[in-house]
This record gives sequence, structure tokens and C-alpha cells, in this order.
Amino acid sequence: MKSAGLTTSLDTNDDPEDRWGDDLVEVLRYVDVLLPNEREIMRITRTDDPMVGLAKLSEFVPIIVLKLGPQGAVARRGKEDTTAPSLRVEPLDPVGAGDSFDAGFLHQYVRGAGLATCLRYGNLAGACSTTRPGGTEAFRDRPHFQKSFSEHAPKG
Ligand SMILES: Nc1ncnc2c1ncn2[C@@H]1O[C@H](COP(=O)(O)OP(=O)(O)OP(=O)(O)O)[C@@H](O)[C@H]1O
Ligand SMILES: [Mg+2]
Repeated sequence: MKSAGLTTSLDTNDDPEDRWGDDLVEVLRYVDVLLPNEREIMRITRTDDPMVGLAKLSEFVPIIVLKLGPQGAVARRGKEDTTAPSLRVEPLDPVGAGDSFDAGFLHQYVRGAGLATCLRYGNLAGACSTTRPGGTEAFRDRPHFQKSFSEHAPKG
């Protein structure tokens, strides 16, 4: 994929066996955008502080997007951090929020948007996901997610 000029992204999600093996480290060399949560970044980097993990990974992954649940997310590119708070919603079920966040973020990233916009759309999709049970229900109800997006999405 890299030799074809494509960008790549990775969300490992959890490792149920908690091994976080060397094959992951190997693949990270080809990843442009890594999207872990706090627990995952600590396990990947074998540290007990997500910010230390972020510093370690930023030496070889161009963009790391650390998902912080109700606190929103932070993106690190090189030495620069861009943060974005989550949206205020009444969460029913957090399952799938992380993957929905990834979709919102990458939807903007592949269009060449800046990190602040990518984060806003990630937070938008993540928050919307929590408003219905399960990982995809909020998006199956098109009027519901369109309303949710138009209420919170930046204009323009
Ligand atoms: N309670 C909440 N209120 C608003 N937004 C939320 C809430 N929980 C999650 N989100 C949004 O969803 C994003 C991803 O959530 P989280 O950090 O839980 O990811 P994750 O741990 O990868 O989730 P998953 O368990 O789905 O893999 C957050 O960055 C935030 O934008
Ligand atoms: Mg996840």
C-alpha cells in the first residue's frame, strides 16, 4: 500500500491475549495514522503513562490520535499537539464509539483537512455513536444522525 502511494491507518483495538507482540511494532513502520485509546497506547509502548507512550510513538508514527473517551481526543504530529473536547451528549452505550471516531476522523483526513477538523468530525461521530445501543445503531437511523451532525458540526 505504501509503495502504491496510499496512506494507511490502524486502530488495533484491544489485544484479548494482552500480548502486543513484535509484529505490531513491525507494522507500525508503515502506519501514517494510529488511533489508540489510553489503555492501548500504554500497552503498545509498555509504559504506565499515555503521554509518555505518545512521545515514544511519535518518533516513528507520523500522526497519533489518542482517544480519551468523554474527554475527547488529542492528535500528535511530530512535536505538535492538537486537542479537541468531546461533544456533550447523553451517552447510552459507549460500544463502538472508538471505531465511529476513526471513521469521522479519517473521512476528513483523506480529504486533506487539517487535524482540528479531523478531530472535530471524529468527536462528532464518536459522540453520535454513544446515543444508541451497539456500535452502528445511531448511524442506521439516518434522520437521527443527520440531526446530531447538523446540531454539532461546524458550519461551512
Ligand atoms: N461519554 C461520551 N460523550 C461524548 N463523546 C464520547 C463519549 N464517549 C466517547 N466519546 C467519543 O468517542 C470517542 C472514542 O471513544 P473512546 O475513547 O471510548 O474510544 P475506544 O476506547 O477506542 O472505544 P471502543 O471501545 O469503541 O473501541 C471519544 O474520543 C469521544 O469523541
Ligand atoms: Mg477502540
